[in-house]
Amino acid sequence: MLKSQSLEVERVRKDFPILRRRIHGKRLVYLDNAATTQKPRSVIRSIVDYYSKHNANPHRGVHQLSIEATEAFDSSRKTMMSFINASAFEEIVFTRGATESINLVRFAWGNHRIKKGDLIVLTMMEHHSNIVPWQLLAKETGARIEYVGITPDGSLRYDQFEALMGQAPALLAFTQCSNVLGTINDAAALCAAARQAGATTVVDAAQSVPHMPVDVQKMGCDFLAFSGHKMLGPMGIGVLYARRALLQEMEPFQSGGDMIKEVHLSGARWNDLPYKFEAGTQNVEGAVGLAAAAEYLNSLGMDRVRRHEEELTAYALEQMASVPGITVYGPRESSRRGGVISFNLGDIHPHDLASILDEEGVAIRSGQHCAQPLMELLGLSATTRVSFYVYNSHDDVDALMGALSKARRIFCL
Ligand SMILES: Cc1ncc(COP(=O)(O)O)c(C=O)c1O
Repeated sequence: MLKSQSLEVERVRKDFPILRRRIHGKRLVYLDNAATTQKPRSVIRSIVDYYSKHNANPHRGVHQLSIEATEAFDSSRKTMMSFINASAFEEIVFTRGATESINLVRFAWGNHRIKKGDLIVLTMMEHHSNIVPWQLLAKETGARIEYVGITPDGSLRYDQFEALMGQAPALLAFTQCSNVLGTINDAAALCAAARQAGATTVVDAAQSVPHMPVDVQKMGCDFLAFSGHKMLGPMGIGVLYARRALLQEMEPFQSGGDMIKEVHLSGARWNDLPYKFEAGTQNVEGAVGLAAAAEYLNSLGMDRVRRHEEELTAYALEQMASVPGITVYGPRESSRRGGVISFNLGDIHPHDLASILDEEGVAIRSGQHCAQPLMELLGLSATTRVSFYVYNSHDDVDALMGALSKARRIFCL
């Protein structure tokens, strides 16, 4: 039985109560981590603890509980600041998730900075969350959008990228890791080229921050977005990292309580950073849970998390290579991809395949993965996708392979 060289998976698994669930009488093999991840006991406990002992509205009261809630919220922000090595507390804005983070940039930065005729550069491997906000912005402002294509193995067409950088774009928005192909893009190189071309950069890190060490200062991005629920944290919380200088210049996103310093009948003055971008009562429970998730990942070590996923991906790719009728999308080498593998098996519809796998306790995703333009480019209506995380083992890959064999038998492949 093969074991991870990087993580003690058996010990990790014990931290996740849900992994004891039986599904249709079988051991749960959870391979839908790109959609959302399971929660360790420390995250669940942090939320229970917050509500059991410290809950109040932060920033608003002078009473003890309000002070404790404020401290819990601030300390969670500090944890997230060091998790991605932001240079200042003010650079971490809490949002509902990656989608809201990108929309915040669209409204609070894009609406005021993008003009008619400006060029917005995206890639063909973006999630809808990193396409639709920019399409709406382009429609409103009269900007135009160009997409960097992909090579047959699912890498970015760097020749096209360079040509587009030569057209002095105003904005480059791209994913650091594709949620369909698994491709890891060289975010530091892309940001450096964009900066030289005078473009502002938005990095969709929804599939990277949870899975590999990310250092925003080394990367040199202007904005970076990610979600808590994809990194062992709760749903409904996420982060927008932004360079302080940009946040200072930007207009507010939503408005109301907490994002103001003073309000008069004649107008208002905005609060300090980052609160200027956090209108209304915030998701303190989410921030606390997210910080607990980041601490849990730190205790494993993000280098080891990355190596573990690379090991599992290499193992799965190797096993899949010998399955007749399988087509695997994305780069061949596990070193160039995150722990996400999309594939099709003969002409079995991915939803049918997902149902058969579910009968075996194997939870995977089927469909377009919120990346319809990429699917259209690949000429596909859907794929089946498996995605790994810290609690997945080589046994899980074996269970997946067993379930795929069963599907092949059922469909006489
Ligand atoms: C690459 C990528 N970007 C953005 C998102 C959106 O994340 P959320 O739904 O948590 O806002 C996802 C979610 O699947 C994703 O995979």
